[in-house]
Amino acid sequence: MTSPDLPAELRAALNTRLEGLSRSDAAGRAAVISQTYREGGGSGTIRTETDALAYALARMPATYAAVVASLNALTEIRPDFAPASLLDVGAGPGTATWAASETFSSLQRLTLLDANGALRTLAQELFRDSARLNDVSYTLGQAGALLAQTGPADLVVASYMIGELGDAERAALAEALWAKTKDTLLVVEPGTPAGYARIIALRARLIAAGAHVVAPCPHDAACPLVAPDWCHFSQRLQRSRAHKQVKGVEVPFEDERFAYVALSRAKVAARPSRVLAQPDVGKVEIAAKLCTADGVVVAKVPRRAKADYAAARRWRWGDAV
Ligand SMILES: C[S@@+](CC[C@H](N)C(=O)[O-])C[C@H]1O[C@@H](n2cnc3c(N)ncnc32)[C@H](O)[C@@H]1O
Repeated sequence: MTSPDLPAELRAALNTRLEGLSRSDAAGRAAVISQTYREGGGSGTIRTETDALAYALARMPATYAAVVASLNALTEIRPDFAPASLLDVGAGPGTATWAASETFSSLQRLTLLDANGALRTLAQELFRDSARLNDVSYTLGQAGALLAQTGPADLVVASYMIGELGDAERAALAEALWAKTKDTLLVVEPGTPAGYARIIALRARLIAAGAHVVAPCPHDAACPLVAPDWCHFSQRLQRSRAHKQVKGVEVPFEDERFAYVALSRAKVAARPSRVLAQPDVGKVEIAAKLCTADGVVVAKVPRRAKADYAAARRWRWGDAV
């Protein structure tokens, strides 16, 4: 399992860039960028070096944690998966590339695409200090156009990206991402009803095109959840001093809510059930909401079934069981 906290090399590179920059400027810019995202806006507000660094300090730890959690879920189901090539679409400051590189020592060819020049420049600076990532290819431009000229990769990732597209562009991008996927495509979004809806639409579209779900779902059927319920997960991450300063907070950790889907070309032999919420541990039983191959159930494990109860006590939201 890869740690959800930023690798020391990346934290150090971010801290180095923060030196010489006013923390209050960075915090002010981070607040504006976060507000824009909350209002449904995109990354267009990130224009300068300070903006890019403020975004990276405030949001990269959380999006990194969400991608790592999704990759951990993927590798739990596919422990043999050893991609040699990665395509990170809407790569921004390189978050998913760092996460994939920490997860897969097999990666040799890393290709990133993004339309934002300030984020690309920051990503390249951060990679420069890294022994493993100082040789990546990072192209600036619109994903739709760039993908047409890009070769396929074993692992394709779009992290916190498809929400910045209009409906028609997003549908076309889903097909383009899949066309470039030799083995597995991972799409991660914020864990909101809207983020989940985007994941579910992409999932349905690509299953119709022949994809199979690796995680989180234990099946390729339509999602059995009924609104207002939605499938999402939560990953805790530690906040560094710089992270706290830029967000203007004291609490040393945060919980990132995210939704994701990992889709592969080959069907996975065995797909365990998924814990959809933190289980209720009561005096007489544990009640856990599970997504199973046959739909959503609330599994009840009585205390008197000692071994099962002991196993269920270890279940956490998001686990494959
Ligand atoms: C919220 S950021 C996420 C960055 C990074 N993937 C992460 O997880 O931290 C969204 C990124 O998608 C990029 N993006 C949005 N629409 C794009 C498009 N049509 N073509 C290329 N990049 C795009 C933005 O420039 C931005 O860097």
